[in-house]
Amino acid sequence: GIIAIAADHGGYKLKEEIKPYIESLGHTVTDFGTYSEDSVDYPDYAAPCARAVVSREMDRGIVICGTGIGISIAANKIKGVRCANKVKGIRCAQLSDLMSARLTREHNDANMLAMGARIIGGELARGIVKAFLETDFSNGKRHIDRINKITELERAK
Ligand code: RB5
Repeated sequence: GIIAIAADHGGYKLKEEIKPYIESLGHTVTDFGTYSEDSVDYPDYAAPCARAVVSREMDRGIVICGTGIGISIAANKIKGVRCANKVKGIRCAQLSDLMSARLTREHNDANMLAMGARIIGGELARGIVKAFLETDFSNGKRHIDRINKITELERAK
């Protein structure tokens, strides 16, 4: 697929490290920055990356900051976009273990992954990326119903 990737200064090095790895798994990467270790604000990088995912330009998004928390919170604020009567919303999971990477795909159909470069090393990050990109959604009815309820929450006043 086409994978959108973004990081702040804290995640810059890990982003550079996992980019060729994502390509080695057979995907195309679009890099939304940042492009150095100069201090930036993670919402400025989470937003264009998440917008590319809801617009369906990109299949999945991967975002990295120091903890993976700030950039995941920001990505999850981007509103879903309606297309052919289906809303595609952001479901960004902050992950630091392989089991959660698999389960958030199977159960939550997570379309964005956030990682903390100060929390996990490159080896674990690659394992998480692989599990996240290669695990399919279960398509179980109860999971679909729950995801639809999440999408509804975005429209609630
Ligand atoms: C930046 O210093 C740091 O706060 C950021 O990378 C991230 O960890 C926030 O959640």
